[in-house]
Amino acid sequence: MARKKIALIGAGNIGGTLAHLAALKGLGDVVLFDVVEGVPQGKALDLSQCSPVEGFDAKVTGTNDYKDIAGADVIIVTAGVARKPGMSRDDLLGINLKVMKAVGEGIAANAPDAFVICITNPLDAMVWALREFSGLPHHMVVGMAGVLDSARFSHFLAEEFQVSVKDVTSFVLGGHGDTMVPVIQYSTVSGIPVPDLIAMGRSSQEKIDAIVKRTRGGGGEIVALLKTGSAYYAPATSGIAMAEAYLYDQKRVLPAAAHLTGQYGIDNLYVGVPVVIGGGGVEQIVEIALDDEAKGNLSVSVDAVKELLVACKAIDGSLN
Ligand code: APR
Repeated sequence: MARKKIALIGAGNIGGTLAHLAALKGLGDVVLFDVVEGVPQGKALDLSQCSPVEGFDAKVTGTNDYKDIAGADVIIVTAGVARKPGMSRDDLLGINLKVMKAVGEGIAANAPDAFVICITNPLDAMVWALREFSGLPHHMVVGMAGVLDSARFSHFLAEEFQVSVKDVTSFVLGGHGDTMVPVIQYSTVSGIPVPDLIAMGRSSQEKIDAIVKRTRGGGGEIVALLKTGSAYYAPATSGIAMAEAYLYDQKRVLPAAAHLTGQYGIDNLYVGVPVVIGGGGVEQIVEIALDDEAKGNLSVSVDAVKELLVACKAIDGSLN
């Protein structure tokens, strides 16, 4: 059986880290695509030279030609610009929308059967636009945000409760922005919900509120520290988890920006919700019961996503 093929559109910080992880994990041959000449080729050569040390046989190649992504099983999109200090994800909209158009057309022409994971920000608008420009089926185009946001939430919760991250499950819904909705009733340590842990005196509401706030600003905290770009290790790890769920038909239940058709009362928008990812792409949207506070927060988050789509349509009339 031929090796699987992973195409990475954007060979920047996240793209390079994705390529490294995909090669180390043996997901398949890796093609790094970028508009900048030399960068994908240079990174691919560097990564190929890891292979004798790490013992992987996957081929890693770099290209500036969309034809080389032909036959890709999975495509992960990080093309575009990243945030600098003081910028919100939404500030990236104008530039990255044009990038999504080029990427969507490149995918449609060369790898229309791939499972496409978008990471470019502002995520919920960019994944929607990428799907529109590519014309791929909605269940084959998904946005990576929730896995990262819930990883950030879980990391902070594990620190607070002083337990292994392996025993923490956390849930984050909504858009990937400051309006994201960490849901504490579904966040647990070995099945014990966070509100119960508070009642048991293991933490306080104030401390959990501070963790929720830090999770919402988790990306910005890293941008402020790095000063020249945004987070890339955890975003790449999160994208790879989604790729593995598809490639290995794992049927994992993961939070992701998925196309909703009435679920949660939301229609024709990409918003972060729990989904089942398996060999069929996004196989199910999981609709969980939310309390009034979470419902209210989700609706604020959805309004923020809607505003971004209005802005996208104003920039590119073909999206109307
Ligand atoms: N096609 C392909 N690649 C492009 C295009 C394009 N039209 N335009 C820009 N790129 C490339 C850049 O040349 C660069 O190599 O995308 C890459 C982006 O890499 P970085 O600037 O290092 O950004 P990164 O940290 O990888 O983040 C990428 O993901 O999380 C989001 O907010 C983040 O939108 C940003 C994206």
